[in-house]
Amino acid sequence: MSILRSLFIAASRNRTLRRFCERSTVGARLSSRFVAGLEIEDALYAAESLNRMGMTATLDSLGESVTTEAEAHSAADIYHRLLDQIAARKLDAHISVKLTQMGLEIAPELAFAVAEGLAQHAASVGSFLRIDMEDSTLTQATLDLVRRLHTRQMLHGKIGVVVQAYLYRSENDIAQLLADGVRVRLCKGAYKESASIAFQRKADVDENYVRLSCRLLESGIFHGLATHDEKMIAAARSYASRHRVGPSSFEFQMLYGIRRDLQKDLVRAGYNVRVYVPFGREWYPYFMRRLAERPANVIFLVKNFFRN
Ligand code: FDA
Repeated sequence: MSILRSLFIAASRNRTLRRFCERSTVGARLSSRFVAGLEIEDALYAAESLNRMGMTATLDSLGESVTTEAEAHSAADIYHRLLDQIAARKLDAHISVKLTQMGLEIAPELAFAVAEGLAQHAASVGSFLRIDMEDSTLTQATLDLVRRLHTRQMLHGKIGVVVQAYLYRSENDIAQLLADGVRVRLCKGAYKESASIAFQRKADVDENYVRLSCRLLESGIFHGLATHDEKMIAAARSYASRHRVGPSSFEFQMLYGIRRDLQKDLVRAGYNVRVYVPFGREWYPYFMRRLAERPANVIFLVKNFFRN
């Protein structure tokens, strides 16, 4: 892992820097490249535009690690309002939720109850609840919660989870999730994890990503392959065509504002593309993780800032 990547990940956890940046107008302007806006309406507008371009969306109300039950409920309220609007405006959109925003670190039962309410609401309007994956201290609790919710008859196929290819454990986790019929979003992983539990070299993460995506593609369940890496995408396309897995049986997923050219190319080639649309005032940790993935983004953002 590069020094810059470690620095940005450390910065993503720095409270003072976060408070300063989230209140600054320059910060809000810089983040707008990767964050759809501060309000629900901004996210809905982004979803509408994506739908018009032939893409679907998953909406993420930014925020993580709440410390009170009231905060967990008010975070959930935003998602309930989103789901009402998704239904009212007939959007092709899901929601993506972090369990620490639903109170997982306060009490697992609180997060379970909040997530159950969201999953039921999503199912009732024909949408879908994706539980994002956070750092490895939460992997087991997240998978347990999703698998437990998925046993509810009404929620079967209506809730899914994320698996990170950088973790050694992911192959086993995928085997269990597939046995239960749970839909998976496969990503490489955005946190800093130690060599005792996670691949450190990009080549190893990539190799595991390809291996796991083949497992998902052959499963007969609809999964999401979340990556902007053209090599991962080419490997999945090639595996799917060799094994007669049609483009309608899975989707590619990418982040808002990243590789928009590739998103459009895939749609033109007949693939499903879902764009992850983050919005809200608590954009700082998300934004820092995006800079960590590609430190060259800093130069790109600064150049654009002065150009506008
Ligand atoms: P990689 O980082 O190897 O990058 C490959 C290429 O993609 C780069 O060379 C560049 O061209 C482009 N690229 C990648 N990141 C970029 C960036 N920030 N800016 C500009 N270009 C970039 N992680 C997690 O731990 N838990 C989660 O729940 C999720 N959820 C999630 C949803 C969706 C829809 C996506 C796309 C990603 C996530 N992630 C995530 C993040 C994921 O783990 C990973 O950190 C990023 O997707 C970057 O990895 P890539 O697969 O894009 O490849």
